Amino acid sequence: MGPNAARKLRAPRCLTVATALLTLVALKAYIEWTAEQDERFPTPRWMSWQSSFITAAQPSTNALPPFVLQNFNASLQQLRQSVPRAKAYWNDKQHQIFRALDQGLDGNISWSKCSGPGTEEKVSKIQDFSLYPELYKNFVLYDGCRDFPLLIHQPSKCSRGTNRTFLLLAIKSRPGNFAARQSVRDTWGREGAPGGLAVRTVFLLGTGSGRYGPRLQHLVEYESQSFGDILMWDFEDTFFNLTLKDYLFLSWTLEHCQEVRYILKGDDDVFINTPKVLDYLGSLEAHKPLYTGQVMANASPFRVRKSKYYVPESYYVGPYPAYAGGGGYIFSGPLARWLHQVSRHIAFYPIDDVYTGLCFQALGIPPEAHPGFQTFDIAEKDREDPCVHSKLLLVHRRSPEQTLRLWKQITNPDLKC
Ligand SMILES: *[C@@H]1O[C@H](CO)[C@@H](O)[C@H](O)[C@H]1NC(C)=O
Ligand SMILES: *[C@@H]1O[C@H](CO)[C@@H](O)[C@H](O)[C@H]1NC(C)=O
Ligand SMILES: *[C@@H]1O[C@H](CO)[C@@H](O)[C@H](O)[C@H]1NC(C)=O
Ligand SMILES: *[C@@H]1O[C@H](CO)[C@@H](O)[C@H](O)[C@H]1NC(C)=O
Repeated sequence: MGPNAARKLRAPRCLTVATALLTLVALKAYIEWTAEQDERFPTPRWMSWQSSFITAAQPSTNALPPFVLQNFNASLQQLRQSVPRAKAYWNDKQHQIFRALDQGLDGNISWSKCSGPGTEEKVSKIQDFSLYPELYKNFVLYDGCRDFPLLIHQPSKCSRGTNRTFLLLAIKSRPGNFAARQSVRDTWGREGAPGGLAVRTVFLLGTGSGRYGPRLQHLVEYESQSFGDILMWDFEDTFFNLTLKDYLFLSWTLEHCQEVRYILKGDDDVFINTPKVLDYLGSLEAHKPLYTGQVMANASPFRVRKSKYYVPESYYVGPYPAYAGGGGYIFSGPLARWLHQVSRHIAFYPIDDVYTGLCFQALGIPPEAHPGFQTFDIAEKDREDPCVHSKLLLVHRRSPEQTLRLWKQITNPDLKC
């Protein structure tokens, strides 16, 4: 057997070991989570392999529940195959990570190179880097940075009261959007426990954008003292930092809201029919992981430079995975840990909902389309119609004024449709 053959043999085995290790870590966390189940939320069947795992005397690779390992291994491999080996920065970086996994390294992305030396090397890999839009350049330069401190924190958000959080509304906002946040608080984002299902709301914020942005820090701190629903991290709140925001939110969830049953991640300018969302979630048999919203299938990068979603060809080549539109989507809370774990092996992508789709693909969980999510809005004639809204789960976008009006209308018991 030549050295090449030996290498070939070693590679998949090391990848298996690496994925097995990863799975173990995720499992351990998972078991901790599921151990805290209460009766009102019985352990979903898709988590119930935990018992066989715990009782296994020697938790070796073979003792792992087959569902997890096979699925995880297979889906990571699948993701690998779906990322074209092209001369593009992201593709290249991701294949480097896969190779690291092959070699039995933990495959944690080397985001120690957050800035400073090494950044120039990065830039030199992209021929037309100087032609990239300014924000894009920033994204590439800082795409290795994942650690930012929390400036405003809500450590007891999820543990307040006696009822475990059923639905966490995690709303992406920006420091200046005071009116949008207030209209959310006064309407669909109001906290409470209708029917015993506790709903809690957090707004996810970075800091004011850049040197020329107004300093809103004190105002936001004041707002947080009044309402206790702001999470603010010390990074610039820009469109291309939304993937970072998602990642930091997952870290926060793992630490402070582990027991949450469902997470709705949405924008602050969506209209959410919270009662209907609760009806829907309450009706689900908690037997499988949920990732649902308006599904974008067969999408690929925008190559129009002026578009907000522009992706240079020297940056990424290939199709997008099916993903749920970022205006608003829902996933099972216990998946937060898996997403966080797998995202340590997937390079940040500038478009946050595409990135989430990649992570779910790596977990082997496809998005499930739900017609109640309308992230591209609905027919113009229906945009003020409470009856139409009372049948939807989420629609994008509505102004604070429209939100207040629509909410009043759809929650009016006299509404006849
Ligand atoms: C993981 O995937 C690789 C490549 O497809 C395969 O060789 C290996 O047997 C798989 N391992 C498990 C435990 O399924
Ligand atoms: C990967 O990085 C995380 C965060 O730095 C660390 O906690 C973890 O131990 C690393 N994984 C391994 C297998 O070393
Ligand atoms: C907890 O849930 C019960 C119904 O199961 C409800 O009556 C009660 O108001 C809730 N408590 C809080 C603090 O939300
Ligand atoms: C993201 O935030 C970091 C930290 O504030 C900043 O250095 C970087 O330029 C931001 N990235 C983008 C694309 O705005």
